Amino acid sequence: MVSRVIPVDPFDLVIFGGTGDLAQRKILPALFRRHCAGQLPGGERVIGAARTALTSAEYRTIVAEAIRSHAGPKACGGGTLESFLDRVSYVALDALGDEGWDALATELNTQDNAPVRLFYFSVGPGLFGPLAERLQKYGLAKDDTRIVVEKPFGRDLGSAQELNRTLASHFHEGQIYRIDHYLGKETVQNLMAVRFGNMLFEPLWNSQYVDHIQITVAETVGVEGREEYYERAGAMRDMMQNHLMQLLCLIAMEPPAKFDPDAVRDEKLKVIRALDPVEPHHIVRGQYQARLDPEDPHPSYRGLVSNPRSTTESYVALKAHISNWRWAGTPFYLRTGKRLVNRSSVINVMFKDAPHSIFGAEAGRHANHLKIRLQPNEGITLSVTIKEPGQGGMRLVDVPLDMSFAEALGPEGGDPPDAYERLIMDVVRGNQTLFMRGDEVEAAWAWTDPVIAGWKSRGDVPKPYESGSTGPGDADLLMRRDGREWRGINP
Ligand code: BG6
Repeated sequence: MVSRVIPVDPFDLVIFGGTGDLAQRKILPALFRRHCAGQLPGGERVIGAARTALTSAEYRTIVAEAIRSHAGPKACGGGTLESFLDRVSYVALDALGDEGWDALATELNTQDNAPVRLFYFSVGPGLFGPLAERLQKYGLAKDDTRIVVEKPFGRDLGSAQELNRTLASHFHEGQIYRIDHYLGKETVQNLMAVRFGNMLFEPLWNSQYVDHIQITVAETVGVEGREEYYERAGAMRDMMQNHLMQLLCLIAMEPPAKFDPDAVRDEKLKVIRALDPVEPHHIVRGQYQARLDPEDPHPSYRGLVSNPRSTTESYVALKAHISNWRWAGTPFYLRTGKRLVNRSSVINVMFKDAPHSIFGAEAGRHANHLKIRLQPNEGITLSVTIKEPGQGGMRLVDVPLDMSFAEALGPEGGDPPDAYERLIMDVVRGNQTLFMRGDEVEAAWAWTDPVIAGWKSRGDVPKPYESGSTGPGDADLLMRRDGREWRGINP
């Protein structure tokens, strides 16, 4: 199977925060890989913009280094680093003042047949408003101009509403692309393909047949290099409010009438709005401890952020209920954490036992389960019960029907584009399906805020857990109290 590359229309992309970490690690390498794949049309321009005084030549040196370090080992088929750099330039400007904006306008207005114009706000949310305002003031925004904004989109409902209001005073919703990079992951989109492209699963996809669903996003990395941000965010704001919530929406939503931005986002929004408030005893926070292993030592979370009394969680597990016809009675268990035993993002759909076992009690309990591996080793496993081979009566055993996407699609399936590659190309194409709408983000905060407020008012302190473990023991208790268990966190 050969992955298709359809070139996009010519575009001008301005990256505010063009010298920053995200631009260097993700945005520029993603553009370069699309250039290599032959998806960029040739007339595009990439303009870095930041405060630092640099010439375009100096900026190109930074971009070249970023690409060498972060674009991965993929061969560049459709062009070279030099041909990509030819399209890159730089403008120094002040996001809070007037310096540099005329120069940016001159740079952009040199092209006669105006291509699609994109502005990537790869900066803190405090600069979204000033940037949006200046884009209008200097006449840089046209009707089809698109702006891309990164998470965190606010730190609570109030600040998200404020950001939405500010952006809405300069751009209409159809121009605003709020990124959640999880939505750009190949297998996350496969969730929709699996659910709505097959007849097999959808009839069983409800509380009558599904006992519970587990969503795990486990990371082995800590918070090195992002201490200041993370200490103010914690796992609830950094991961749960956005990435895990989006996965929950895709798993739980009703089939949209079509694969169209508003149809999909309407259904996701309904899921978030149907979530019950989380009960305080249905949530566990954790914070990682130091790892003393001389071979692989790590500081504790508190040591790393130099705050011996920090109560920021690096782990959170919770039980959520969706009060609607499809899901009433089926709990969703969500967990995410840093410095866990393995890197693994997995959704486990645990089906109910057969209503009656004709094989007797000694055959044991055998429920089907569908495991959707988002990363690494993307694929799907369906466990099926069969007879244990051999003599000795009717003994049952569960075997996996295992499909690895890499194997199933073969080498010609190609390396799928990473999330940023796909999402930036979607912005160029003007497709908002994989971006969060303003009301979705607000609804997610409205659900998250009371949880965080509850911790604060109770003076809640996260439970310690060992670095390299599966998280705090209390998260296991959360499951055991319901007679259930977490699936292992395997690579
Ligand atoms: C980011 C979070 O949004 O997602 C990080 O801020 C986290 O804390 C990252 O590490 C995880 O992304 P991925 O693609 O590596 O699973």
